[in-house]
Amino acid sequence: MDQYIHGYTSEEQRRLAKLNELLNFRCLSLLTLAPGMRVLDVGSGLGMFSAQMADQVGPTGRVLGVEKSEAQLERAAVWLEGRPQLSYRQGDAYHLPLKDIGVAAFDLAHTRFLLEHVQRPARVVGQMFQAVRPGGQVVLVDDDHLRFTLYPELPAFDVIWFAYLKSYEVMGNDPYVGRKLVALLKNAGCRSIRNDFIFFGSNADQSDFADYVRNIAEIIEQARSVITEHRLLAESEFEEGLRAFQQWQHHPHATIWYQVCWAEGTKPES
Ligand SMILES: C[S@@+](CC[C@H](N)C(=O)[O-])C[C@H]1O[C@@H](n2cnc3c(N)ncnc32)[C@H](O)[C@@H]1O
Repeated sequence: MDQYIHGYTSEEQRRLAKLNELLNFRCLSLLTLAPGMRVLDVGSGLGMFSAQMADQVGPTGRVLGVEKSEAQLERAAVWLEGRPQLSYRQGDAYHLPLKDIGVAAFDLAHTRFLLEHVQRPARVVGQMFQAVRPGGQVVLVDDDHLRFTLYPELPAFDVIWFAYLKSYEVMGNDPYVGRKLVALLKNAGCRSIRNDFIFFGSNADQSDFADYVRNIAEIIEQARSVITEHRLLAESEFEEGLRAFQQWQHHPHATIWYQVCWAEGTKPES
C-alpha cells in the first residue's frame, strides 16, 4: 500500500500551490503542446498544472487529470471554470480509470512528482504508455533528492535532509527515482527519449527566496513523525537542523540549487 508522505492538510495544499507558482512556467516551456491535443495528467493534485496545459491545448483539445485524493480534486474544481476542455476524475495511477475513453486515446501523458510516492513506478509508466496513441509522448517529471546544494554549506541541515530521504525508503518509496526516468520510459516501450533538468532554486537577492526556503522547510516538517518514529534522527538534531536552515536564509550569499529530473519518450508507431 503506497503512502503519500506530504498528506492533504490545508497547509500542504498551500505549499503545493506555491510550488506550482514557482515551477510551472519552467515545466510548461519544456512541453510541446499545441491546440487540439489530448493530454492526460496522472496524479494531478490540485490541478493547477493540468489547467495550464488546458490553456495551451485550447477549447479544441482535452486535458484529463487523474488523481486519487478527493481533497485534492475538491480544490482542483476551481480551475474548471471557463475551461470546457479540462476535466478531472478520481482514480488510481496503477489502474487508470479510462475504460470509457479506451486505450491509446491521448497524444501526451504527463506525470509530475508522483513516481517518487509510489512503490511500483514502472506499473504507473506502463499505464501511461498504454494510454497514448502510437507516435504520442510520455513525459515524466520527478525528483532525485540528491540533486540539491545549499551554499554556504550547512552540515546541520544535511543531516535532516538525509533523514528525510531515508523516510521515503522506510515507506517503500524512492527518493532517487528522477535518475531512473529514462530507464522507466525505455522499459515501458518508449523510444527517442530526451532528458533534461528543471531548475528549482533561488538566492537571498531574490524576492521569491523565502518561498523556496519555506517550501523545503515544510516538506521536512511533514516527515517529522516518520523520521522520529523510525528513529532516523533524534528529535533534538531535527530541531537543530531546521533552526539552522531558518537562520541560514538570512546569509547574504544564501543560495539554493535544486534540479528536478525531466524525461520524454515517444510511443513507437508500430
Ligand atoms: C506531490 S503531488 C503532485 C501533484 C501535481 N502533479 C503537481 O505537480 O502539482 C502528488 C499527487 O499524486 C497523488 N497520488 C499519489 N498516489 C497516487 C496514485 N496511486 N494514483 C493517483 N494519484 C496519486 C497524490 O494524492 C498527490 O495529489
